[in-house]
Amino acid sequence: MNILVTGSAGYVGSVCAAELVNQKHRVIGYDNLSAGHREALVRGVKFIQGDLADTRRLKRVCKRNRIEGVMHFAATTLVAESMSNPHLFYQNNVTATIALLEVLLECKIRRMVFSSSAAVYGDPQRTPIREEHPTLPVNPYGESKLAVERALAWYHRAYGLNCVALRYFNAAGATDRLGEDHRPETHLLPRLLEAAMNPDKGFSIYGEDYPTPDGTCVRDFIHVRDIAHAHILALQFFTNVYFRTYNVGHGKGYSVREVIKTVEEVTGRRLAISVGPRRPGDPAVLVASPRKICRELTWYPRWSDLKTIVTSAWAWKLRHPCGYASRLNNQYSL
Ligand code: UFG
Repeated sequence: MNILVTGSAGYVGSVCAAELVNQKHRVIGYDNLSAGHREALVRGVKFIQGDLADTRRLKRVCKRNRIEGVMHFAATTLVAESMSNPHLFYQNNVTATIALLEVLLECKIRRMVFSSSAAVYGDPQRTPIREEHPTLPVNPYGESKLAVERALAWYHRAYGLNCVALRYFNAAGATDRLGEDHRPETHLLPRLLEAAMNPDKGFSIYGEDYPTPDGTCVRDFIHVRDIAHAHILALQFFTNVYFRTYNVGHGKGYSVREVIKTVEEVTGRRLAISVGPRRPGDPAVLVASPRKICRELTWYPRWSDLKTIVTSAWAWKLRHPCGYASRLNNQYSL
């Protein structure tokens, strides 16, 4: 299939683009490189640097390449930033997606896989979280993802657009070639690995007074390769006409303390840990029920055991001590 991948130079987008190439799809990558990395573009992806707001160009790209389906990863994703600058999130995540949908309609593209987030649930009332759980986002990032999901449901009904919205839990881990490199980096695992590499850096736990067994937050870490696999399966299911939302999570939660322990085991280094105040907007526990995607798409989390996640991310970190620009070798396998 000819697939347009928006955000193809980003963390999850690049891994999915690589997997699509592996599966013999023809991949057109589209990214404005505002947050992505040119080095994250794998061989086999035809890359076009561009903005989603440039609909005239995007229509030309879709028509010229006979695009049959879209995987839409491009988004602004830092929750804390969304609290101080919601406009950016409505613009980049909602307005830009509506512009993309205009392109899909005009080019008669009927298949879309959308990167949604567990952030649509807000503070969960019960865990593990199932898709029927109320969606009550507590930050503009989650609101922006939910707004798009709702728009997609209406576009499905009115225009026959088939869509799968995948609600990622905590994406983590790396492939041989592709890893996590956000700037600034706010995420737990890359920060811990940075602390393992640079002992002067230290690491601060955001709060140890949560109602959890060890007082630190509990999260559901899902290997980026398992997320990519969910996308491939979603694409295969487009032989049916539908709109669906699925959780993409492991179904098992680990506390921040447990992640620290695993990082120390895998790296063989002791981390300088301090405990700071809570970070505003952090729910105590976020754990998925992945039952629906397992049942309907025959997906299962093959690489999401915590040790496997940490080992893969550490191997990538050792090869890219300062992120993409500092690549120490140049492998092209996934
Ligand atoms: N944490 C620390 N110290 C740090 C960084 C993180 O203690 O330096 C803690 C956080 O407080 C949180 C946990 O580690 O309890 C995970 O934090 P991350 O920032 O790695 O991830 P979040 O759970 O905040 O958010 C991620 C994605 C969101 C998505 C959410 C869904 O970034 O986009 O998972 O589960 F919505």
